[in-house]
Amino acid sequence: MSKLHQSLLMRAYRGEKTSVTPCWFMRQAGRYLPEYRELRQKHSMLEMIRTPKLAAEVTLQPIRRFQFDGSIIFADILNPLIGMGIEVDFIEGEGPKIFNPIETTKDVSKLKVPAAVDNIPYTLEAVSLVASELDKLNIPLLGFSGSPFTLSSYMIEGRPAEGLSKTLQFAKDNPESWNELQEKLAHVVSDNLVAQNLAGGSAIQLFDTWVGSLSREEFSTLALPHIKSIIELVKAKTDAPLLYFAKNANHLLPTIKDLGFDALSIDYNISLSEADNLTDNRFPLQGNLDPVLLKGSKDELEKRTLEILEEGTKLKSHIFNLGHGILPQTPPENVSLVRELVRSYERLL
Ligand code: CP3
Repeated sequence: MSKLHQSLLMRAYRGEKTSVTPCWFMRQAGRYLPEYRELRQKHSMLEMIRTPKLAAEVTLQPIRRFQFDGSIIFADILNPLIGMGIEVDFIEGEGPKIFNPIETTKDVSKLKVPAAVDNIPYTLEAVSLVASELDKLNIPLLGFSGSPFTLSSYMIEGRPAEGLSKTLQFAKDNPESWNELQEKLAHVVSDNLVAQNLAGGSAIQLFDTWVGSLSREEFSTLALPHIKSIIELVKAKTDAPLLYFAKNANHLLPTIKDLGFDALSIDYNISLSEADNLTDNRFPLQGNLDPVLLKGSKDELEKRTLEILEEGTKLKSHIFNLGHGILPQTPPENVSLVRELVRSYERLL
């Protein structure tokens, strides 16, 4: 058995209480780091993702600086859509953009379902490069993917869009085509997750940033069956812990708890204790510092970090993280401050 099995993070993902709380941050690689910006000036986002050495370097930057207990491979939830036939780019100052959004059922039938080895070979190579470095440090690497619902919302809206009116309209007007789209995505996503695990990712996380726009009923019909099929497909091929981050989706937690995820990532709209109660007190929970606080006063940051750590002691197990991705204007010294507080906070078992 690999020694990573006994790392702080993997123990917490299995639900074991640890005397020190493991810690990593969503979007821990990125523009708030000067060493990232330096590379980013020379390369586009897609170039960085598609060059395994660069992706590996950027993944390791926050590990070197902050000695996080977990690492997440540098990629994006959207780049795997390119192999399906969707033209994606990341525009400076604007974020991601899709140039040929889905408008008709024909657009859905045209979509390809590439295997991960053909679609994201560069990410799989980056995963192996990083994993061989991190093995020495006993730090696990996470692979990830977007969920079919969140990916569809980008494919239909063309960009991040509050409310998702086009997406919901498309699903309502074309239920069969919606299911076809979800099924295609479920295959791509599950294959990507399994492939990242085989390449060296010890845990895998499914990001569902936009699912909170759905009511419970809409969630049950539009998203849930396809999440279930991903869990089934992934669990048939790997025993890596599978985590779920559903943003703004606390009304869905009572449903999410029965889907079969191993751990849940919690956003900053709810306390960890409330999330724990809504999920029968049986999940390792990851979260949930508001990333905005990392840009504010040190006193408030320290106070909130300690509150979250304290709440964490009452959970099955706790992984300290943010309630959403780190913001570009975050001072790295504030990240260090939180990192040190978490490291030195001793839990009585
Ligand atoms: O966490 C990590 O360090 C790994 C890398 C990672 C990125 N994107 C890199 C990235 C991960 C896990 C993601 C996930 C992702 N991407 C999500 C799900 C999680 C979430 O944040 O809600 C979503 C919705 C996306 C789509 C996306 N990509 C958006 C909305 C944006 C624009 C916002 C922004 O921060 O610019 C991106 C761009 C992006 N993805 C950047 C990075 C480092 C910035 C690109 C740049 O350097 O210009």
